[in-house]
Amino acid sequence: MIKAFADAGFEVTAIDFSPVALAESKKELGNFDGKIMRADFFKSDFGRRFDLVYERTFLCAIHPRRWSRYAQRVAELLRPGGNLIGIFFYGTEPDPPPYPINKTQAKEIFGKYFRLIRDLKVSDSVPMFAGMERWQEWERSAMK
Ligand SMILES: C[S@@+](CC[C@H](N)C(=O)[O-])C[C@H]1O[C@@H](n2cnc3c(N)ncnc32)[C@H](O)[C@@H]1O
Repeated sequence: MIKAFADAGFEVTAIDFSPVALAESKKELGNFDGKIMRADFFKSDFGRRFDLVYERTFLCAIHPRRWSRYAQRVAELLRPGGNLIGIFFYGTEPDPPPYPINKTQAKEIFGKYFRLIRDLKVSDSVPMFAGMERWQEWERSAMK
């Protein structure tokens, strides 16, 4: 997906704090017109704000006690009016991770900084996530 954003003309910064994940991504992306860097999402200073933050299987990989910090961090990284977009895991999971979110939690966590402007069922998930993913777009409200 990040390649699709780069191909569409976005200036892309992709991060992970795992050297293994970075090496695999670089191998997979090949000739990629964007930055792939080692960074801790919760701590790194990127020295700028972004128009978009793209989410997929990151929120569900971190423990729910960190979700409000996640929302705050995304809000800090976005310019006002910027969007958090991507695929969110709304299923059930008897043995997490991945940690599913529900609509009440999403409203609590994101409602302080964002407004939900698009919410669609994903129909082409990988089998493990089939029927449990939603494409959502959350718009950053004025600064709080
Ligand atoms: C389930 S993977 C998702 C990867 C990618 N979004 C995808 O769809 O293939 C979660 C990734 O988040 C990374 N990660 C977890 N905590 C992080 C943090 N604080 N900062 C940066 N990366 C982190 C892990 O190293 C892991 O590669």
